[in-house]
Amino acid sequence: MISKFIDNKYDMKTFDLKISDGTVANATETFHADIGIKDGLITAIGKNLGKAKKVINADGKLVLPGGIEAHCHIEQESSSGIMTADDYYSGSVSAAFGGNTCLIPFAAQHRGQKLQNVLDVYHHRARPKSVIDYSFHLIISDPTDEVINIELPAIIDQGVTSFKVYMTYDKLIVDDSQMLKIMTAAKKLGALTMVHAENNAMINWMSEKLLNSSYKAPKYHALSHPRAAESEAINRAITLSTFIDTPILIVHVSTESGARIIAKARYDGHKVFGETCPQYMFLNAKNMDLPEMDGAQFCCSPPLRDKASQEEIWRCLQNGTFQVYSSDHAPYRFDETGKLHAGKKPTFTKIANGLPGIETRLPLLFSEGYLKKRITLNHFVALAATNVSKIYGLDHRKGSITEGKDADIAIWNPKLKKVITADDLHDNMEFTPYEGMEITGWPEIIIQRGNVVIEDNTLKATRGDGEFIHRKKIDCTGMPGRVAPELNSKHNFDVKFEF
Ligand code: URP
Ligand code: ZN
Ligand code: ZN
Repeated sequence: MISKFIDNKYDMKTFDLKISDGTVANATETFHADIGIKDGLITAIGKNLGKAKKVINADGKLVLPGGIEAHCHIEQESSSGIMTADDYYSGSVSAAFGGNTCLIPFAAQHRGQKLQNVLDVYHHRARPKSVIDYSFHLIISDPTDEVINIELPAIIDQGVTSFKVYMTYDKLIVDDSQMLKIMTAAKKLGALTMVHAENNAMINWMSEKLLNSSYKAPKYHALSHPRAAESEAINRAITLSTFIDTPILIVHVSTESGARIIAKARYDGHKVFGETCPQYMFLNAKNMDLPEMDGAQFCCSPPLRDKASQEEIWRCLQNGTFQVYSSDHAPYRFDETGKLHAGKKPTFTKIANGLPGIETRLPLLFSEGYLKKRITLNHFVALAATNVSKIYGLDHRKGSITEGKDADIAIWNPKLKKVITADDLHDNMEFTPYEGMEITGWPEIIIQRGNVVIEDNTLKATRGDGEFIHRKKIDCTGMPGRVAPELNSKHNFDVKFEF
């Protein structure tokens, strides 16, 4: 640990808030310092900083950048019309209690919808309710020429610089030619394409075979989405993106075979990022082997795998194959509003997909990753906030404890032990897949732009305190990449392709 600040050059200033005596960690360094905050910004980091209107003593605590949750479904209708259990109030409160100060949920286009209308609806949902800052990723399910050539550029200009596409789900799926069209637009506009990579035909084939043989219970969901469906689709998505040389991020990777394809593409210098989620590190398909419909609580896509996969996903997080670690919070209650929307005893194909986890994402990683020495504290910070801020164009405001940045801070008590239980969580769910796990290390004080959001286990912020954050275009500096020779005029008889 370094102690790099010795002077008190800020003596004459009065800060709005000072966090004193904590151990501060960024993605690259750890040091003892006070933090001075004024007008919502970090204005000083040092020793003996002088007076402040409010002082928080962080002796014995870790002072970390507020987490940024980059993959969550909040107040979003699924393609079957089911609304998530969390709106922007409960979703953001739950995120804050889990150590986050910023969210990037999805604004989902369903077929026939105009992108601007979609974005307006989500602004309308988030603005009056969110207690922490937020942005959106779009979901594009209907890439008409109008959507791609006229609507999308306008959305990117409004600071929404990433979008997700699905290679499965009947009402969301885009085919390869649509993917190329979307990726070409992303390249031209400076946006990042996020991909839900699973081979739809393989899933349908397996589902039909299982149902024809009367394997209908929730646990068979895990078999119906084979590992090969994920790796085939990841390979295809990366092949398409590297063909035209545009950045992509493969979300919620659940298999080592998929992770290896990402690792190889990165090794080869392509603009490829990978994300995994706690469910693939802490849960496995045996959790679904429960009586009656109980296994439905663990149905998500890609599905839970096995114990060996958990270890492999941990390894890929440790070795940097995954730069992003997100909850994929998709809260559907275990009743007719969510998991059981298609009846009391649906086949596994009709169960709403998704797990809650926005509040448990960071405590799980802190306890089982950092405290158990699988990752360093700095790597924890990188996964909690810094990597996301860089990849998704937020680093002008967020992601590190640096003078000039938003004072978004989570003060963690590394010794506090608590058993996870649904009753203590702040989402609008009645279950958590992590029920009963004992976790050491929890965030205790959350600060957003200098204002206390959570203190003494109490919410201090009010609805609408969160602000929309305009994100920058995607920066691929340091990821060389190259278009395919057929598209490169040095190798294609001088044919020039417009991107
Ligand atoms: O099962 C999941 N992951 N549901 C949420 C939607 C998605 O694909 O991310
Ligand atoms: Zn997905
Ligand atoms: Zn998702």
